[in-house]
Order: sequence, then C-alpha cells, then structure tokens
Amino acid sequence: MSMQITQSPLKSRPIGEIAADLPGATAIFRKFKLDFCCSGDVALADAAKSRGVNLEAVEHELEELSASGQSVAIPHETPVLIDHILERYHETHRRELPELVELARKVEKVHAEHPQAPHGLGDLLQQIIGELEVHMKKEELILFPAMRRQPTGVFDAPISQMRHDHDDHGAHLQKLETITNGLELPDGACRSWQALYAGTGKFIDDLMEHVHLENNVLFPRFETKFAQPVES
Ligand SMILES: [Fe+2]
Ligand SMILES: [Fe+2]
Repeated sequence: MSMQITQSPLKSRPIGEIAADLPGATAIFRKFKLDFCCSGDVALADAAKSRGVNLEAVEHELEELSASGQSVAIPHETPVLIDHILERYHETHRRELPELVELARKVEKVHAEHPQAPHGLGDLLQQIIGELEVHMKKEELILFPAMRRQPTGVFDAPISQMRHDHDDHGAHLQKLETITNGLELPDGACRSWQALYAGTGKFIDDLMEHVHLENNVLFPRFETKFAQPVES
C-alpha cells in the first residue's frame, strides 16, 4: 500500500495520521524517537523540531518507505482490526509482562550495588500490569463489543476515557526509559540484564504500536470530531 504523499506536505500533516496512512512509518518514528501515539495530533515538522530531529531525514525515510510498497497493511475492517489488537497486543502484554517483572526483580537484587542498576523497575512494571489490565478489560468488555454491535455508533465519552488512560501509559513509558537509562546496558551486563532490556524494549515498541492503532486508526471511526459530513 502506498500513501498519497502528494496531497499535502508531509511536514504539515499530523504524525499520527501519517502513521495510520503509511504502515511501517511507526518504525521510522520510533527510530527518531518521535511520539506518534499519545501526541499523534502534532504536525510532523513540530514533532521533529521539539525533539531536535532532522526533519528532512525523517521525510526522506518516509518517502522511501512509501515508494517501496513494502509496508504491511493495517486491517481495515473494524472487527478484523479489533481482533488484531486483541490477539497481537492485549494477549502479548499479558503473556510477556509477568516474566519481565521476575527478571527485573532478579537484576535489581543481584546487582543492587551497581550504579546503573534499574532500581524500581520491577515495581513499575508490576504497576503497569495492574493499570493495563483494568484498561484492557474496559476495552474488551464494554467499548469493543459496542463498536462491533454499532459500526456507525459514536462513543465520545468512553473513548475520551481510553485516550486519558493512554496518556497515563505514555507517562509510564517515559519512567521506564528513565529508570533504565534509555535501555543502555552497562559494560559486561549479564544475560538476565540483557534479556530484561531486550524484553522491556519490545514491550515499549508493542505498547506504542498498540496505542497508535487505537488512538489514530480505530477510535476516530467512532468520534464526533472525525465524523464525515452526510452527503445529501
Ligand atoms: Fe487496547
Ligand atoms: Fe487502549
């Protein structure tokens, strides 16, 4: 799938919209540390400027991806998209996070005296598990079933609550980055420490993709502000 990059300049388009239109763009945004999920309504140029990132370099990679036709399409049908979110992200978080907590507690204990030890990581991950579980249950039991039942429904209030929860998730991710020193391993880090940071990095990537698919692709289909005018 190729994006219509000639419609308006990439730099003036919201970063979340680009991520939604061009599958694979999220990997480029993550590489440049641009927030496309919780701050998806910010124009690409502004996002790059606030991060001190070279805008032309980002645009170049996006244009190359678009031209390559190698992007993997996001499921279009709403029920298929919801199934994808549940199977690829909700189930993965539930499966992988408990192991990360165990690993974090082990590394914190064994390397307690190390100046770069990720103190508090196990507790933070445990807190994230609890908050994510409550959030995902709300989606699974209330919002997503309503979306399946009423494909043209408008659910502004519950979606606003979900977006608020997502902002909280984003704050947790920033704390993860701080505690782990940007996932930078010290020289000679043991295998457990390596596995912990690799797993934490994967979780951060997964959660950003997960929130992006909801904030920028699924939710706008059910919000008043994104409703298409009815043609007479
Ligand atoms: Fe979700
Ligand atoms: Fe969510």
